[in-house]
Amino acid sequence: MTYQALVTHRGEDGKVTSAVEMLDDARLPEGTVTVDVEWAGLNYKDGLCLTGAGGLVRTYPHVAGIDFAGIVRDSQDTRYKPGDRVVLTGWRVGETHWGGYSQRARVNGDWLVPLPEGLSTRAAMIIGTAGLTAMLAIDRLEKLGLHPDAGEVLVTGAAGGVGSIAISLLARLGYKATALSGRSEHAERLISLGSTAVLPRDAFLAEPDKPLESARWAAVIDTVGDRILGKALRQVKYGGAVAAVGNAAGIKLETNVLPFILRGVTLSGIDSVMQPYAARVAAWSRISQSFDIGAYGDLVEEVGLQGLPEAARRILAGQVRGRIIVPVA
Ligand SMILES: NC(=O)c1ccc[n+]([C@@H]2O[C@H](COP(=O)([O-])OP(=O)(O)OC[C@H]3O[C@@H](n4cnc5c(N)ncnc54)[C@H](OP(=O)(O)O)[C@@H]3O)[C@@H](O)[C@H]2O)c1
Repeated sequence: MTYQALVTHRGEDGKVTSAVEMLDDARLPEGTVTVDVEWAGLNYKDGLCLTGAGGLVRTYPHVAGIDFAGIVRDSQDTRYKPGDRVVLTGWRVGETHWGGYSQRARVNGDWLVPLPEGLSTRAAMIIGTAGLTAMLAIDRLEKLGLHPDAGEVLVTGAAGGVGSIAISLLARLGYKATALSGRSEHAERLISLGSTAVLPRDAFLAEPDKPLESARWAAVIDTVGDRILGKALRQVKYGGAVAAVGNAAGIKLETNVLPFILRGVTLSGIDSVMQPYAARVAAWSRISQSFDIGAYGDLVEEVGLQGLPEAARRILAGQVRGRIIVPVA
């Protein structure tokens, strides 16, 4: 049986290109569960894999796609049977193991999560790694003491995938979220998504850096790193926490000990890729109950397999608003 996949090659000149090809089952990687993929997603990391940036993909040809949702076709894993609806995010699928930009995927059954009741495969990909990560960040901040009366939560990279879903989830869960964004054209949409205010990135960065700055945030969900993370840490209120999620602006972090020793601030890292099964199931269950997909609708763009190389360049340039999802079936 043949199926379509977006196959990524690296030429002798080192150039990485992708094209839709017909493959047969013999090309599927090792694994215990074969899935007919219905929808995949595009994340920042997929942009890196499709362009060869970041050195995440070591072996070519490759099929990228770190997220997918679909229907089990065949299973040697007793937990899954044909017809089951499943979602996969992380586990380095799409990086070291062939991923979701393919009508058929074969993976280790340990990496799958059964789709929560009532969540379609399309909705699961609107959420994807971005939504799972946003949920994990909120869960962590709550474990560290955040509650809706604690004050404003700052979300950086707010118009991106993780940021926009974090804002939507925070609003639904009763929190006040301030969106930090470099794109003023999306400010109105971020407000209608549930943020109480939109802070322009330039204005935030224009304020002079001090060892400790005015305490403004009960918590921060940071998707960008670098100077923005350093500055946000110095503005967290007494006892607050920062969830460090991403590095869209860079991997550096310059800080000092004052936020930690004078305000008891916690800096906590979030990783969605290697999350244990029970934590994933719990997070998917909470998202399926808390995420208002209807309200998020116009922040979703559909891009077919052929359009992904161009969309990859856009996401790396910070030009994607909300989520890109990929109809694969
Ligand atoms: N830890 C994990 O498990 C995990 C999971 C998912 C993603 N991530 C990471 O989280 C980050 C965001 O992922 P995503 O999928 O949400 O990506 P995305 O959709 O591309 O969003 C990133 C956002 O960051 C902002 N941004 C981009 N370049 C910037 C720059 N130079 N300076 C400041 N802000 C900038 C932009 O928001 P504005 O235009 O609103 O400013 C952009 O929309 C990435 O680094 C990704 O690798 C980590």
